[in-house]
Amino acid sequence: MAKNFSLPPELKDSLIAASPVVWLNPQKSESYSLDRAMIEEAEKRLIRFAPYIQREFPETLSLNGFIESALQPMLQLKEETLIKGNIFIKRDDGLPISGSIKARGGIHEVLYLAEKVALEHHLISMEDDYSIFAKQRMKNILSKYKIVVASTGNLGLSIGIMSRKLGFNVIVHMSHDAKEWKKSMLRAVGAQVIEHAGDYSLAVAKGREEAEREVNSYFIDDENSKHLFAGYAVAGRRLKKQLDEQGIKVDANHPLCVYIPCGVGGGPGGVCYGLKENFGEHVYCYFVEPTQSPCMLLGMATGQHDQISVYDLGLTNKTIADGLAVGRPSSFAGKLLEPLLDGILTVSDEELITYLKKLYQTEGIIIEPSAAASIKGLFVSLPTSANKEATHIIWSTGGSMVPEEEQKSYIE
Ligand SMILES: Cc1ncc(COP(=O)(O)O)c(C=O)c1O
Repeated sequence: MAKNFSLPPELKDSLIAASPVVWLNPQKSESYSLDRAMIEEAEKRLIRFAPYIQREFPETLSLNGFIESALQPMLQLKEETLIKGNIFIKRDDGLPISGSIKARGGIHEVLYLAEKVALEHHLISMEDDYSIFAKQRMKNILSKYKIVVASTGNLGLSIGIMSRKLGFNVIVHMSHDAKEWKKSMLRAVGAQVIEHAGDYSLAVAKGREEAEREVNSYFIDDENSKHLFAGYAVAGRRLKKQLDEQGIKVDANHPLCVYIPCGVGGGPGGVCYGLKENFGEHVYCYFVEPTQSPCMLLGMATGQHDQISVYDLGLTNKTIADGLAVGRPSSFAGKLLEPLLDGILTVSDEELITYLKKLYQTEGIIIEPSAAASIKGLFVSLPTSANKEATHIIWSTGGSMVPEEEQKSYIE
């Protein structure tokens, strides 16, 4: 057990018993500051690279080279939930290139690196058409650099696919939770996969160690990276546009409630940050974690953030939600989220299986177990659940790359 930490006794008992909980963040505040320049910089970088993305990934042609997902109304599932307002599903499970929320942050950081190297070598200026990154001579330069990352799977896929396309060498350290098909897909694009017998935190430590040993090696650090975070945060601006286009109001009388699966916290943290930038006090963000891996809840509720892990509570960190099997949260996301986040819900594997089936039976959508955690937000009573004017979004964070056979196994 961790030496000194305090939690309300009822919460502590439920967490230890792995019973689903609803934790409302007592530190949420209307007073906070945001680094808008960080989001602006990431958004502009994604715009600069759009011509290259469009050229190299034809599935982004209709999106003009933007890596963005649909916002889709959910009409059928609503009948079974506690929700009285509108429900939408944000289809990051279908994000181009790597089929998960990780395509936002992971790809942004790889582009950041490619741009940095190219600028340092005086190969581009920021005003150029970035299609130039598709040229062989650019790939030859980038092939002198190695990107190292640790992942439960989806971050590795986003970084592996993008890095290889640009010409970088890439090594992905994978935790024991990572699915075989994710490793095979990475090897198929030319990434080197290193398998670890331990959990995600161990894979991160090994990756960091390796990158420190080698020159021209860059570690994409899911526990610490601001570039990952900024890439996720751009989602807020994009969502604002989508809601405007669909005529959905967000204001004091029309709250927006968003439910996002959480692992180490960078992905949902960045999205929440971006939502705050665009909707201020009118957005209510809830994260959802597995009952065996509530690392962000534990870090925020104790105030110990990355100094405490779910093992300190005697939990196993074993879950069918492989992307959320993280025992220790990001070193900075929870701290940053203290005034921003409304709460964290936990979900059991049994509930995840029920939600996967329900989503398929009602809407015909198949997503991966980690993504289904978001659905929990529709089945717990929260301050805005009964508000008829509210809009609710479940952030479906992954699924379209899952092989058909495995997809079938989720819903049978
Ligand atoms: C499908 C899916 N959803 C959510 C997450 C959580 O993101 P984070 O670990 O940044 O909290 C992951 C992480 O890999 C994931 O794969």
